[in-house]
Amino acid sequence: MTEQRAGREGGAGMRAAAALAIAAVLVALLFWLDPVALYPWVKAAHVIAVISWMAGMLYLPRLFVYHTEAETGSEKSETFKVMERRLLRAIINPAMIATWVLGLWLAWRGFGFAGGWLHAKIAAVLLLSGVHGYLSASVRRFAEDRNQKPTRHWRIVNEIPTVLMIVIVILVVVKPF
Ligand code: HEM
Repeated sequence: MTEQRAGREGGAGMRAAAALAIAAVLVALLFWLDPVALYPWVKAAHVIAVISWMAGMLYLPRLFVYHTEAETGSEKSETFKVMERRLLRAIINPAMIATWVLGLWLAWRGFGFAGGWLHAKIAAVLLLSGVHGYLSASVRRFAEDRNQKPTRHWRIVNEIPTVLMIVIVILVVVKPF
């Protein structure tokens, strides 16, 4: 790793730590102040975070499809590594944290964690978070040129967040049970 790159990675680490610290303070304030009028604003922020998380979760496996087709060690392959790492760290990880924190606050403040639809939704989001974990580990594998999976695998993985998203949105909007 070059010094310049190490510096950039260090800077990214500092930024991530600062973002987490700010998020923690905001969450503490949210639970402590508990203003009822804030509910629609928190819901809006939750939906914005959800859109960012989903955008990344749908794009990353698509990048893996192209990356699998690129020759190992080629300039193209190295560019995909940078794109994948940045997408994961700058968008997908923070958006997932924001979605969870704001969603849990809404579930607590609006519904006292009650309702079959809510429990089913949380179960579906846990599955989505599992897919997130798998994609995150896959970014590391691609970075070390250790991917063994064919493009067909990544095309199939690409569909899983889509299906889960459809289920989650129907559960929260229709609240069928
Ligand atoms: C564990 C994490 C999550 C929890 C606890 C949670 C919980 C909630 C709650 C309680 C609401 C408010 C519902 C209402 O006021 O009627 C809400 C809104 C919403 N959530 Fe989540 N959510 C989570 C993650 C997600 C994810 C991953 C998605 C999409 C993939 C999502 C999509 C939405 C949408 C679209 C709304 C707006 C629904 C409406 O206004 O009718 N949520 N969420």
